[in-house]
Amino acid sequence: MYFIFFTGTAGAGKTTMVKEFQDYLLQLGLDTAVINLDPAVEQLPYAPDFDIRDYVDALEVMEKYNLGPNSSLIASIDLVLTKAAEIKKDIDNIEANYVLVDTPGQVELFAYRDTGRIISSLISGENKAVNVFLMDSFLAKEARSYVSLLLLSSAIKFRLNLPQIDALSKIDLLNEKESAKISSWGEGEELIDELGVVDDYSFELVRTIVENLDNPPIPVSATKNIGFDELYAIIQRILAGGEDYL
Ligand code: GTP
Repeated sequence: MYFIFFTGTAGAGKTTMVKEFQDYLLQLGLDTAVINLDPAVEQLPYAPDFDIRDYVDALEVMEKYNLGPNSSLIASIDLVLTKAAEIKKDIDNIEANYVLVDTPGQVELFAYRDTGRIISSLISGENKAVNVFLMDSFLAKEARSYVSLLLLSSAIKFRLNLPQIDALSKIDLLNEKESAKISSWGEGEELIDELGVVDDYSFELVRTIVENLDNPPIPVSATKNIGFDELYAIIQRILAGGEDYL
């Protein structure tokens, strides 16, 4: 069993991607399941095989503990961890080759708090897992935002300690010129040029991050099914050493 986590900033397209990528894998004849880890989501476009909302409801937590929306989400995940044994049992009952995991919009859980790592390892257990970090293209088309997203991606990779693939989501929202420009940034030099004058610390930071990217971010669109073959190929390379697991 392989686990594919989808993380990203709020609204980056995680839920839509999970649904469309599941359909894509099904069309390839692969056996899939989906886990929803977002306790605050109201509607899902897919039928989850495990739903965190069966254990905790962020709205109830908000009212009960008089919290704001963000802190209630963080508290909800902490509460979920008190039910780890039951959750593990539910997840162990899932039978599929690929399990896609939709994560909360509150990316802080994965970037700055240990809860993200605890819950992701609780869920994937001893199985191989990969994290797909979605960088919203609409935000990333500005060079400084692109760099900020790469920094966030590094923070999440550091925190989760999983192989990670960066993907530029919603690429269909960019025109050809924007799309070509953003793709060229993945190679490095042109991003540094685009940033213009930056202080020495920022220059070195950006250079290090870009030079150490395993792969340039993959342009994808969940609504237009763009980039799925490439994304799947890289996932396969990481998870199964290049061989389809049928
Ligand atoms: P949160 O869980 O709230 O953080 O959101 P999310 O990251 O799960 O994003 P979601 O899938 O809910 O998508 C947010 C919005 O972006 C929705 O209006 C989607 O229809 C839209 N969207 C998602 N993927 C794409 C895409 O590939 N292209 C375009 N144009 N819109 C997209």
